[in-house]
This record gives sequence, C-alpha cells and structure tokens, in this order.
Amino acid sequence: MPILVAPSVLSADFLNLGKGIEMINRSEADLLHLDVMDGVFVPNISIGFPAVRQFTQISAKPVDAHLMTVEPQKFITQFRDFGVTKLTVHYEACTHLHRTVAEIRKAGMSPGVALNPHTPVELLIDIIEDVDMVTIMSVNPGFGGQRFIPHSLDKVRRLRQIIHSRGLNTQIEIDGGVTLENARQIADSGADILVAGNAVFSAENPIEAISIIKNL
Ligand code: DX5
Ligand code: ZN
Repeated sequence: MPILVAPSVLSADFLNLGKGIEMINRSEADLLHLDVMDGVFVPNISIGFPAVRQFTQISAKPVDAHLMTVEPQKFITQFRDFGVTKLTVHYEACTHLHRTVAEIRKAGMSPGVALNPHTPVELLIDIIEDVDMVTIMSVNPGFGGQRFIPHSLDKVRRLRQIIHSRGLNTQIEIDGGVTLENARQIADSGADILVAGNAVFSAENPIEAISIIKNL
C-alpha cells in the first residue's frame, strides 16, 4: 500500500501561509492537515474559522481537519460548509462520541477519531465500525516539532490487528514527530497516513521532503 502524506500547516511560516498551501498543492501530498486548537483541550491556540475557510478554499488537496477542542460537536456544520473532507475529533473530548461521529457523517464528511498517547486503542472496539479513520497521536497534542513517542508503534500494530480481524478498511493516521528517518518504520507498523509538520516545513526543500516520505 502506498504511504499517504498529510502535511500539517501548523509548522508553516504563518506570514506566508498561502505560499505554504500552494507548495502542498504542487506536491505529492495526499491531504492537507489542519490543526485546530482551542486553548482548553490543549495548551495552545492555533487557527480559527476564517483561516480554516480560506485555507480550505485554496487547497487542491482534501482537507483533513484535526479538532483539538472540547465540544467539537458544536461546530460540525461550519467545517462542512467550509469544504472540509475529513473531520477528526478526539476520543477524550467527546462524551457522546457515537452521536458526534454519526453527525459528522450525516453532514457529508468522513469521520475520524483521534487518541491521545495514553488512550488505549482497545477503547475503540465499539466505535471502530463507525469511523473511517483513527488518528494515533504520537506526541501529546498541542505543538508541532515534538519527539515521536516510540510506544505509538505498538498502538498502531494493535489497532491494525483489530481492523484486520473485523475485515474493515479503516485508515490509520499517525500524527506527531514523523521524520524522514522514522517514516518507513511507522508505515511498516501499519499506518496508512503520515502527518508531517516539522519534517516538511523545516526541510530545505519541502516538496522533496513530501516526496521522500511518500515514496519510502
Ligand atoms: C500536534 C498536531 C500535529 C502537528 C504535527 O498537536 O496535531 O498535527 O502539527 O507536527 P510535527 O510533524 O512537527 O510533529
Ligand atoms: Zn494534527
């Protein structure tokens, strides 16, 4: 299976975000990863609705929005109206995850659920059939450029096993600390989509960095 790459604009130059997105448009990236943080669920604030709307407008790649917010169910229709394709909410932020996932699908988007590093993948056994993607956080969410937590590989393998044993085709995304050096090992452990922020935007040639990860 080819590796899918989702560059995260969190690590882009915020004074030149349009250029960063155009670079992603011209690259071999499969998705554009947008990190939305509310300063409550995570100790950081990133971008809000005006930015999500404009980035989605100029993105030639489907937008993969990762909501690191409390009460994400409040904003589903806004993200749909902006043109977001994949909407991922955190397991830890949703009291009624089943309802939220159903609402995302009903709104016409592809639902995903993200797990913090301490949340076992086994907690998903009663929701896995309802989501299209699981995002394993391989750092504590909130910031780009952190170090990959090695135990995440074990979580990816266990989740791959659950998906395989049920005969599902749920995608596994890994988010945080992906580098040109560890990307192959992460893909080999069973991840389909690699989010890459720092690895892309701190590279001398970001288009080439995306291509290297994609074609490992
Ligand atoms: C972290 C975000 C990530 C982040 C990844 O909270 O969810 O998407 O941008 O950045 P890197 O690849 O630099 O760890
Ligand atoms: Zn993310």
